[in-house]
Amino acid sequence: MSTLLQINTSLHSERGQSSLLAGQFADKWQRANPDGRVIVRDLAADPVPHLTAERFDAFATPADQRTPEQAAHAAASDSLIDELKSADIVALGLPMYNFGIPSPLKAWIDHIGRAGVTFKYTDNGPVGLLADRKVYVFAARGGLYKGTEHDTQSAYIRNFLNFVGIQDIEFVYAEGLAMSGGVRQQSLDVAARTIDRLAA
Ligand SMILES: Cc1cc2nc3c(=O)[nH]c(=O)nc-3n(C[C@H](O)[C@H](O)[C@H](O)COP(=O)(O)O)c2cc1C
Repeated sequence: MSTLLQINTSLHSERGQSSLLAGQFADKWQRANPDGRVIVRDLAADPVPHLTAERFDAFATPADQRTPEQAAHAAASDSLIDELKSADIVALGLPMYNFGIPSPLKAWIDHIGRAGVTFKYTDNGPVGLLADRKVYVFAARGGLYKGTEHDTQSAYIRNFLNFVGIQDIEFVYAEGLAMSGGVRQQSLDVAARTIDRLAA
């Protein structure tokens, strides 16, 4: 049985445009894979805390030496990593806020990037420890940035996923959502057609 993990990162939760696109993909994928399982992680409804020194130290402390509080911090991170590992396919909603990724997504990333768990350093540099899997990224933006130096999001997400071992990444863009003159609808129509093709 295949598992799809949908990650909503919009401050508008499942009503955000990036979540709607990720949800459209998940619905179509479910129809094409009736035996498949869809897990939805919503970072607005269920926020991951910011990484603190206490949490970082807990991750770095050997499991058998952790205090109960440190064990709880590590367990919270472990469960997010296990959820990601359980997914054959990931549908990540990616809104652009103030030229960057949503801060709840950064907090999630800070709980996924764990030395010795999702990556390790070797003599030849860092090695990702997660098995590769398909990640679709549904990027929603008010303006037009794809392919320009202002699109720092795409490179950042790709770099992080590559770092933990995930190479198979595909971006679906819905841009110009704050623009007039039919740009928004045209962009959403193109994204919907792309989703139809990808989820078939
Ligand atoms: C707080 C905030 C900051 C935003 N900053 C940008 C931005 O820097 N560039 C841009 O193109 N759009 C920006 N937008 C527009 C969003 O990218 C757009 O509304 C998109 O649909 C957000 O995704 P969501 O609907 O899934 O939350 C911003 C929107 C909000 C609410």
